[in-house]
Amino acid sequence: MHDLTQPDLALLAFAREIQEKAYAPYSGFRVGAAVYANGEIFQCVNVENAAYGSTLCAERGAVMAAVAAGCRDIDAVAVVGDSESPTTPCGACRQVLAEFNPAMRVIMGGRTDEVIVMSLEALLPDAFVRGYLDQDDQK
Ligand code: THU
Repeated sequence: MHDLTQPDLALLAFAREIQEKAYAPYSGFRVGAAVYANGEIFQCVNVENAAYGSTLCAERGAVMAAVAAGCRDIDAVAVVGDSESPTTPCGACRQVLAEFNPAMRVIMGGRTDEVIVMSLEALLPDAFVRGYLDQDDQK
C-alpha cells in the first residue's frame, strides 16, 4: 500500500468524472478508468454486451486509447467502481496493464472516500511479460 499523493487524486478524479458514461445495462456496475501515459490522460468506461463475454472493462479501454494515441509509457492507472470498498482491476486487466509497466501505480476508489494505492507488482506478482518470449533457451 502506498501513500496517496495529489497526482493520484487528480487521476482518480478523471476516472470518477467518466464513470457516469459507463454502458452497464446488464450488471448495473459502472466503472470509470483513467491512465496517465507520456504526460497525457486517457479515460474509458466499461462497455457491456448482450453476449456477456464481449464486455470490455474500463481499464483495458483506457489502455487501448493510450496505445492508439502513441502513448505507451503508462505511469499510473486509476479505477473507480460502484462498490462500497475500492474496486480493484480484474485479472485480465492486470495482465494487460503489466504489458506496459509491471510497476505502474494503481489508484483505486469506490462509492466512498476510501482510496487504495498499490503497485501493479503487488496486485500481479511475477507477471508473464514479453521478456519470457525472448529467452534464447526456447529455440
Ligand atoms: N469491470 C471493469 O470495468 N473493470 C474491472 O476491473 C472489474 C469489472 C466491469 C466489467 C463489467 O461490465 C462490470 O464491471 C461487472 O463485472
